[in-house]
Amino acid sequence: MTLIAPSLLAANHAALADAARDAEQAGADWLHVDVMDGHFVPPLTFGAGVVKDLKTATSLPLDVHLMVTNPAAQVPQFIAAGASRLAVHVECEGAAEAVQSIRAAGIPAGLALNPATSTEALRPYVGQLSHITVMTVVAGAGGQALLPETLPKFAELRAMFGPEVLLVADGGVNATTAAAVRAAGADVLVAGSAVFGAHDMSHVIVRLRQGV
Ligand code: DX5
Ligand code: ZN
Repeated sequence: MTLIAPSLLAANHAALADAARDAEQAGADWLHVDVMDGHFVPPLTFGAGVVKDLKTATSLPLDVHLMVTNPAAQVPQFIAAGASRLAVHVECEGAAEAVQSIRAAGIPAGLALNPATSTEALRPYVGQLSHITVMTVVAGAGGQALLPETLPKFAELRAMFGPEVLLVADGGVNATTAAAVRAAGADVLVAGSAVFGAHDMSHVIVRLRQGV
């Protein structure tokens, strides 16, 4: 079954605990936490302290997506904060070291790749990743339109990594695009504006999971 991971980027940042509880009650499977450092991508969002406090607000797994230039230096803080799984960008220097330290901590390790990055960049990591965050928009902002040219990456990564790896689609996923993203081979759909902008969050989550 397709898992749904609402992205807190699109929630009220002054009421994240409420947003987490709302998503949990609406049937979300994970919560996606977009950490942006103002350098790898322009905005600044959440630090490890937010992850730590979210742990007390929800029992949903926290899927932390690190959009930071120096992931190896940042990862230990997010592990200590209680991240359930962590993905760093393959484009960053130190990505390999970051993956190693996530794995050494016994937490599922992931890599994220931007639309311009070939799936071949992940080949050195076969056997090391529990999930791969395929950016279906350019990392850095919510509310963008999904880039259809990114969809063949799901089949490429499935062929490369096999059946066990979880393929996560991140960006531009909504009730209109979800069926194509699922058909392309995604296991997990991240959705920010589609979920937190909805009047009926549980209805949207059902549609993302199985709507046509
Ligand atoms: C973009 C983030 C996404 C974003 C998705 O850099 O990684 O997780 O929140 O937002 P929507 O669903 O609005 O495209
Ligand atoms: Zn994300």
